[in-house]
Amino acid sequence: MKITELKVTPTELREFDLPEGFEAKHIEDIVEIFNTPLVGSYNWDYTDADTRIKKLYELGKELNWNGSIDLDWDNHIGKDEFPMKAELIARMEGPLSMLPDDQKLEYMRHDTAWSLSQFLHGEQGALLVASQLVSCAPTYQAKLYAASQTFDEARHVEVFNKYIRKVHGMEYPINKNLKALIDKILTDPRWDLKFIGMQIIIEGLALAAFQTTKETTNCPLLRQLVHYVIRDEARHVTFGVNYLEEFLQTLTEEEVEDRAMFCYEACVIMRDRIINTELPAKWFNMSEDDIRELIANDATNDQFRNLLFTRVLPNLKRIGLLTDKVKPLYEELGLLQYQDSDSDFEIDWAELNKPLEDVEEIDEQAQAGLSSHF
Ligand SMILES: [Fe+2]
Ligand SMILES: [Fe+2]
Repeated sequence: MKITELKVTPTELREFDLPEGFEAKHIEDIVEIFNTPLVGSYNWDYTDADTRIKKLYELGKELNWNGSIDLDWDNHIGKDEFPMKAELIARMEGPLSMLPDDQKLEYMRHDTAWSLSQFLHGEQGALLVASQLVSCAPTYQAKLYAASQTFDEARHVEVFNKYIRKVHGMEYPINKNLKALIDKILTDPRWDLKFIGMQIIIEGLALAAFQTTKETTNCPLLRQLVHYVIRDEARHVTFGVNYLEEFLQTLTEEEVEDRAMFCYEACVIMRDRIINTELPAKWFNMSEDDIRELIANDATNDQFRNLLFTRVLPNLKRIGLLTDKVKPLYEELGLLQYQDSDSDFEIDWAELNKPLEDVEEIDEQAQAGLSSHF
């Protein structure tokens, strides 16, 4: 076993081309340390009741898919195929739309690998946070649920990693702003802030980002993969909303405002700061400001970017973190309009209970979703 400890987060692209005769002994684990003042608790009351959290835990056990068996690993696009659906490529604007096809393809392969790499790193963050929640969640049912979520997140890391290596052969490092947000969640001593940051903000946004990926990707394997991940994430977010709604009512006004502000700041980071600026900078010789402006002015992009918040805002409202103080700030971002969309509190049990869909059904859903946006 070889473990190398880094003092700083990696910044380089990694390409995977394993040498012949590669074996487990050649693996070099690259680690970066974080310290956390985790406040854990035992629970000495194992009394169980039929609550929503318990039902979610039961569902998690029942719908436990296996990425090695349930995904069709041969059903993916080749390196010479565009990673996005043709109708979206036709709508493209800006300098990328003007490139000849071969360069466009090369650019889009890197761009897709970048986004999927952020999903992968985000899933690792979720894995680490979920495992902390097992220790620090105060109630019996929440501990069991967090344990089942930990296993879900392990499978998410596994399948995104396998997909990226197999289909793209390259992995980008974590975006520094996403890393800072995960660092904050992992190292904050308050368990409820970990819950809020991970279950409501990051997973709420991930749910929407995975949905967009399902609708826009040209790869049937990726569609199936994110669809199964979405099924799990929907449970995780539902758990967060249900659990936090009750808990946050026990906090003082000042404590609530503090958490409301944390959420707002996290949303700003997720909306404006987790953007791949390096790739366009390199390809089109543009400054970071120019790239941000270009992205802000791209109507299709903007639509998808705001759609990311359709789950987060109603959930924040439901748990009481859309306070009068922060509302004007969300208004300025153009996000307040989503506060009355459907919240994940009222669980659609029929939807969560459905057996896992097959590839054809997933493809149909994805196409119908995409068509509804245009
Ligand atoms: Fe996940
Ligand atoms: Fe999750």
